[in-house]
Amino acid sequence: MLLVVGLLLPFIIHGGANEAAIKRELAADGDLTAYVDIFTGTHSGGNNNPAAARPFGMVKLGPDLLIQGTDSYSGYLPKGKFSGFSMMHEQGTGGAPKYGTVAQLPLVGEVSNPLSRITVARNGNDEASVGYYKAKTSQGVTVELSAANRAGIYRYTFPSSGERHVLVDISHILPSFRGKNFGQGYAGGEITVFPDGHYEGHGVYNNGWNRSPNWPIYFCGYFENTPQGNKTYASSNGDASIEQASGSAFSNSSDVRIGALFTFNETEVISRVGISWLSTTQACQNLETEIPRGTEFSQVVNDSKSAWNKEVFSKITTSATNVDSLTLLYTSLYYMHLIPTNQTGENPGWKSEEPYYQDIFTFWDLFRCGTSLMQVLQPVSYEEQIRSLIDIWRNEGYLPDARSSNYNGRTQGGSNADNILADAYVKGVRGKVNWSDGYAAMVKNAEVQPPNNDPDPLAQDSSTKEGRGALPDWKQYGFITPSYTRAVTRAVEYAYNDFGLYQVASGLGKHDDASKYLERSRNWRNHWNPNATSLGFSGFVVPRNLSGFQSISILNAKGYWNDPCYEASPWAYSFTDVHDAEHMIDLMGGHTGFEKRLNTTFEKSASGTIFDPSNEPMFTIPYLYNYINRPELSVLQSRTVAKSQYSVGVDGLPGNSDAGAMQTWLLWNMIGLYPVTGQTTFIIHSPWFDSLVIDLGAGKTLNITAKNGDNNGDSKFYVQSLKVNGVTWTKSWLTWDDVFAKGGTLEFELGSEPVQWATGVLPPSPAS
Ligand SMILES: *[C@@H]1O[C@H](CO)[C@@H](O)[C@H](O)[C@H]1NC(C)=O
Ligand SMILES: *[C@@H]1O[C@H](CO)[C@@H](O)[C@H](O)[C@H]1NC(C)=O
Ligand SMILES: *[C@@H]1O[C@H](CO)[C@@H](O)[C@H](O)[C@H]1NC(C)=O
Ligand SMILES: *[C@@H]1O[C@H](CO)[C@@H](O)[C@H](O)[C@H]1NC(C)=O
Ligand SMILES: *[C@@H]1O[C@H](CO)[C@@H](O)[C@H](O)[C@H]1NC(C)=O
Ligand SMILES: *[C@@H]1O[C@H](CO)[C@@H](O)[C@H](O)[C@H]1NC(C)=O
Ligand SMILES: *[C@@H]1O[C@H](CO)[C@@H](O)[C@H](O)[C@H]1NC(C)=O
Ligand SMILES: *[C@@H]1O[C@H](CO)[C@@H](O)[C@H](O)[C@H]1NC(C)=O
Ligand SMILES: *[C@@H]1O[C@H](CO)[C@@H](O)[C@H](O)[C@H]1NC(C)=O
Ligand SMILES: *[C@@H]1O[C@H](CO)[C@@H](O)[C@H](O)[C@H]1NC(C)=O
Repeated sequence: MLLVVGLLLPFIIHGGANEAAIKRELAADGDLTAYVDIFTGTHSGGNNNPAAARPFGMVKLGPDLLIQGTDSYSGYLPKGKFSGFSMMHEQGTGGAPKYGTVAQLPLVGEVSNPLSRITVARNGNDEASVGYYKAKTSQGVTVELSAANRAGIYRYTFPSSGERHVLVDISHILPSFRGKNFGQGYAGGEITVFPDGHYEGHGVYNNGWNRSPNWPIYFCGYFENTPQGNKTYASSNGDASIEQASGSAFSNSSDVRIGALFTFNETEVISRVGISWLSTTQACQNLETEIPRGTEFSQVVNDSKSAWNKEVFSKITTSATNVDSLTLLYTSLYYMHLIPTNQTGENPGWKSEEPYYQDIFTFWDLFRCGTSLMQVLQPVSYEEQIRSLIDIWRNEGYLPDARSSNYNGRTQGGSNADNILADAYVKGVRGKVNWSDGYAAMVKNAEVQPPNNDPDPLAQDSSTKEGRGALPDWKQYGFITPSYTRAVTRAVEYAYNDFGLYQVASGLGKHDDASKYLERSRNWRNHWNPNATSLGFSGFVVPRNLSGFQSISILNAKGYWNDPCYEASPWAYSFTDVHDAEHMIDLMGGHTGFEKRLNTTFEKSASGTIFDPSNEPMFTIPYLYNYINRPELSVLQSRTVAKSQYSVGVDGLPGNSDAGAMQTWLLWNMIGLYPVTGQTTFIIHSPWFDSLVIDLGAGKTLNITAKNGDNNGDSKFYVQSLKVNGVTWTKSWLTWDDVFAKGGTLEFELGSEPVQWATGVLPPSPAS
């Protein structure tokens, strides 16, 4: 039975000794939300979004901060002025801002030109806890927000003097100032105020990072207090806002902003707003289902906390006593569950009985260790997510690599949904998944180049919408020539993707396909130039054409859309194809050469450290020591990264959260395992806590214990011995079946000095 003490936390003085005691007390009563520090990772490019939200909820109701010239990716910025409080946001993304749509803004005093992109300064610090956000504007209005799945609630407390207004500006979006052609646009909308004072309408928007065409979102807003006045407006860009006599405003032009201004007598104004991708009727229905008239604000907050406790936080329990570590644990769990969005029944593209999830931002970030943790923690939702992916292919022709506003885009490297489907397949996700369709969707990626009918301004060579743009070279030559951008990144990822096809083809008994794709999965080797050198090491993946290899800076060629290596260097990409690890290790000079190269990756030098914890392509590298039976070095390097790069507090993330990808890397570090996506293999390193129990669903648990550690992973973290399900274990890896399929136990003994406990067979290299 959960006892939820909802609104206590905002008043705790941060960092006080008392704070830890209060958190412990709340958690002991079942409220693990006490350990979530919503502002962790919100500054310095973490882009965490402190909006009020439910797990996988369509609504993320939070502030939109504006600083001219600065992109506000998730809506939140530590500085800046409020341009609105809107219902839709993405979690932790880079690239360019998306959404910031369906907004309100409270205003005090005369509002002469409502649609003139009004902003209001902040007064003091924002406060937030799970399901609750609060801020004060410079005009003296306190704004409190909470959310259900498809509806949200606003509570405004206005000052006692001055006119009190709530502005609804349909043209409100999160703008981009990067000048890279992926700023969002507003393309029109409509609003109608009804005789009872509620409003309905929709807005149309486009572009953003995934280069989406026009998409509509519908809304339905009620005020618990009858407005004293209401006016609807239209305004040509830059001109005065013209009041519309009809009580409704409409425009299908991006040049005409529209909106409404509501005026109130009372100092406390509560507004409930529902959204829908389908219609205003559905938006009103979503609102009445989730936050019916008369719902107390604190009820929505309490329900939100209960939902997070029940659906998410209760999945992991530990013996941890260090409050910072508990905060990292539960805050990381929080931030990996905001997207994708469960939009089942809200699919505007086609009619289907299948579940529907979108806001995939992006699989390029998530396939490495995020989606496999999602399967462990949320098996029910995960099966729905896999079915949804296949349904997107069924109805639109391609699996997404990224997807937002119901539109696939953009693909950075490979078609990485292949890795995710393969991972789900080999780990036994079945249920209602139609795997013959799932495999057909993967074959489409592997065989059919997507049309380049709307060339990406940043990379015009081939489609970035979905699929594999550079497929003709891959199929014809087994490598990718410079006629395609991001050739090295694509090649190493296409090989990984083809390995995924091999896995599913094998399982479905398609032996010819299996051999074909296994062969193709080795083609990353065609980019291996044994003569390319860096820091005394030779052999790296490099760009090449039909005549041979091309020279490139092995350490510094970390490019963008139009370059051979996307966001990571040839040094980093050389470690990608772990399905072929044994061959990779041979190419890198055998066990000793490989160990030296890994060591060098983590060494500090005058020019910095090669290992880049701020982005996903290097996620797996610290764990690769297990492929030469040196798991103690995996522990050392990964623990050093985890403990030095992640912390509680606004600067707590090394890079963009990227839909929670960063947080899932940290969670695996705490657990003591690391997944090898596309295979059943898990690398074994070392757990942080004396005990950690993962609820695997259906009555199964994975129990992990560690004797003689420090119960926090700071010291004494070297494994001395391990038992898996009670049996002494000498392999540095295990499989899904060992501990996840039916549950299981891992019993570690830890110590301060490394011992050579792993003497067993090396982790599999199926392509070698
Ligand atoms: C929500 O929880 C708080 C704290 O336990 C409580 O004071 C409040 O009454 C609850 N709200 C509702 C509507 O139950
Ligand atoms: C909205 O404003 C119009 C025009 O002033 C007025 O006729 C109508 O009664 C108002 N509706 C509400 C609910 O206040
Ligand atoms: C608002 O306040 C004015 C003056 O106090 C009063 O005349 C009017 O009836 C009030 N309107 C509403 C809708 O409560
Ligand atoms: C905009 O709306 C008007 C009025 O409904 C209609 O005549 C016109 O065709 C629309 N234009 C576009 C581009 O949809
Ligand atoms: C996703 O949403 C649908 C529709 O609301 C619901 O039936 C389903 O249970 C949700 N999935 C999860 C895992 O909560
Ligand atoms: C999978 O879907 C295809 C059509 O898309 C259908 O022919 C087939 O029967 C389905 N398989 C199962 C097991 O439902
Ligand atoms: C590497 O260099 C050696 C010695 O110069 C040369 O014989 C060999 O052909 C080169 N290999 C490649 C793949 O360029
Ligand atoms: C390959 O690239 C090299 C320069 O890196 C160039 O000299 C050569 O002509 C290119 N060959 C082909 C077939 O494009
Ligand atoms: C790699 O680093 C570890 C830890 O510093 C060290 O013990 C080991 O000797 C190094 N290996 C090589 C091959 O240099
Ligand atoms: C695993 O932990 C749970 C919760 O503490 C406990 O109920 C269960 O008995 C444990 N299972 C094993 C096999 O240790």
